[in-house]
Amino acid sequence: MTAIIAARNLVRAYRLPGEGLLGRRRRLVAVDDVSLELDEGKTLGIVGESGSGKSTLARLLVGLERPDRGTIAFDGATISNLPERALRPYRRAMQMVFQDPFGSLDPRMRVIDSVAEPLDIALPGLDRDAREARVAATLAEVGLGTSALRRYPHQFSGGQRQRIAIARALITGPRLLVADEPVSALDVSIQAQILNLLVDLKLARGLSIIFISHNLGVIRYLSDHVAVMLRGRIVETGPTERVFGAPEHPYTRALIAAMPVLER
Ligand SMILES: Nc1ncnc2c1ncn2[C@@H]1O[C@H](COP(=O)(O)OP(=O)(O)OP(=O)(O)O)[C@@H](O)[C@H]1O
Ligand SMILES: [Mg+2]
Repeated sequence: MTAIIAARNLVRAYRLPGEGLLGRRRRLVAVDDVSLELDEGKTLGIVGESGSGKSTLARLLVGLERPDRGTIAFDGATISNLPERALRPYRRAMQMVFQDPFGSLDPRMRVIDSVAEPLDIALPGLDRDAREARVAATLAEVGLGTSALRRYPHQFSGGQRQRIAIARALITGPRLLVADEPVSALDVSIQAQILNLLVDLKLARGLSIIFISHNLGVIRYLSDHVAVMLRGRIVETGPTERVFGAPEHPYTRALIAAMPVLER
C-alpha cells in the first residue's frame, strides 16, 4: 500500500536575529531530520511540547513552507520539489485546520463566501446555484444548516466557527486533513463535539488525518499511530496502543506520567 503522505529526512531551519559566536548567523532547527508515513484512511497523532516543531512540520507537509532538505511524497508522487503551479492540485488534496477558528475566517465575509473561497479558486466557472448547493451540503456535513450561509463569523460560537473552518477545508474534497491543535482554543465542553465530528468525517469520507495536539488524552482517542516530537525530532513513533502501553523513550514516559490519571 502506498502511503497517502510520506516524508523523508525533512529539515527546516529559521534564522534568528543577531549574530552568534564568531559572527556566525544563529539558526534554529525547527524540524530536524523528520521522517514519517501515513496510510490512507488513518490518523497520525503528533504530540510534543510547545516549540517542538509540530506546526512547522504541518506547514511543510501541506506545502505552505518548503523544507531546506528532505522530500515529501503524496500518494507516491514527490511534491517537495514541484514549482508552485504544479503543486496546486496537491494543495486541494491536502487541507489544514488551525487552532483559532476566528483567525482563519475573514470577519467581513459571509459564511457562504468563506467556505466557497477554495472552491472558487479550484473551479472558477461553477455557477451560483451549484456553488451554493455545494457549500450547503458541506455545511450540513459539519452539522450546520442553511441559515448559516448568509451570516458572518462573529454570529457563531467558537465551536460553530471551527465547524465552518472545517467545512472550508473540506469543500475541495481533500484526501488529507492536517489539523493543528483544532480544539485547543475551544471550551472543554465543545472539544469532544469537534473531535467526534473529525472521527465521523474520517469514516464517512475515508479521510486521512494528521492531528496535532499537546493533549495526550485527545491524541490517544483519535489516533491510529502516534509520533512524539522533542526539539524538532520524532523521538518515538508507533501504533497508539503500543506507544501508550509500552512507551520506550524517556520523554514519552514523562509525558504519559504527567497525564491526568483518568486519561491514562
Ligand atoms: N517563522 C518562524 N521564524 C522563526 N522561528 C520560527 C518560525 N516558526 C517557528 N519558529 C520556531 O521554531 C520552533 C518550532 O516552532 P513550532 O511553531 O513549529 O512549534 P510547535 O510544536 O508547533 O509549538 P506550539 O505547541 O507552541 O504550537 C520554535 O522555537 C519557534 O519559535
Ligand atoms: Mg504549533
